[in-house]
Amino acid sequence: MERATVRPMIKTVQQHIMEAQRKRFPGASGEFSWLLSAVTLATKIISDHVRRAGLVDILGATSVTNIQGETVQKLDIIANETIAGCLGYRSSVGIMVSEEDDEPRILQEPGPAAKYIVLFDPLDGSSNIDVNVSIGTIFSILQKREDVDCSDVLGHILQPGYEQIAAGYVIYSSSTVMAYTTGDGVHMFTLDPGIGAFRLTRENLRMPEDGGYYSVNEAYYAQFPEGVQRYLQWVKSGESDTLGMRYIGSLVADFHRTLVKGGVFLYPPTTKAPKGKLRLLYEANPLAFIAEQAGGAATDGSQRVLDKKPTALHERTPLVIGSSKAVEQVLRFWSP
Ligand code: AHG
Ligand code: MN
Ligand code: MN
Repeated sequence: MERATVRPMIKTVQQHIMEAQRKRFPGASGEFSWLLSAVTLATKIISDHVRRAGLVDILGATSVTNIQGETVQKLDIIANETIAGCLGYRSSVGIMVSEEDDEPRILQEPGPAAKYIVLFDPLDGSSNIDVNVSIGTIFSILQKREDVDCSDVLGHILQPGYEQIAAGYVIYSSSTVMAYTTGDGVHMFTLDPGIGAFRLTRENLRMPEDGGYYSVNEAYYAQFPEGVQRYLQWVKSGESDTLGMRYIGSLVADFHRTLVKGGVFLYPPTTKAPKGKLRLLYEANPLAFIAEQAGGAATDGSQRVLDKKPTALHERTPLVIGSSKAVEQVLRFWSP
């Protein structure tokens, strides 16, 4: 008698990663998907906190100012400790770098087992937490370098973005969505609260080449380089094919819209922040990896973001990221 076959209706991010690993590394031990499961667990916990913000005491600021010079929000701390706690149970993670930690956390000396370095912005868009606007988590994964001594912690961390082995983000919004890449396309998963799992919703996503929105905080117009000011005059002249302007103020949300709808996001240098505001290692690099994997581009105005050689843990960079054509259009006016 023929056996009924039931095709699984869902594919979780763990299953997706395992399949991707088997396809690319047949002998893969599954340690990478085990590592990624720490990120998915942590972001499910953070998502649960975000959903209940206002009902439990997680809104508002602490009295702490972080290394970025920013007032730390309660949810920044909760997110940071949640991710660090979940990653702490993964023996494959040697070093963790967080926007909220002055220094790297050494879990184990980078070695044959502890070969991964996880860098993250635990809670992106902190200024939007208290006004119920989309926020997110951004992560980047590197491998320790073979040619660097175990004791040279920064030597393992300060690698250019093209060395990332994986990158992703989670956006906490009308739904909780995770996007990630391991260099084999961009894939999206939506958290199904009914089963507590991220379910595959989009595979091999491509950024639209035309249309979409331009996205920049025009409050700083007077502080922007002259070329950026000329680009903004042009894009508002009606000659561009962007549909309009959107600016949410959470990088993850502005990037997610750009990835799905097309267009370009800019955070140029300003007189107040001559190197830009966004951080290279755990904001610009992971999103640049995703943008390029989806057919888009990311530059600091002078070079490809992924080619930049980091010199400091919390280094900032100007960022122009989005559809290749839209990014090129910005560079036609501004090439520092
Ligand atoms: P974070 O909350 O992790 O510090 O990041 C905030 C960043 C980024 O999310 C956003 O694009 C940018 O700050 C907004 O800056 P402005 O308020 O200066 O526009
Ligand atoms: Mn951020
Ligand atoms: Mn942050």
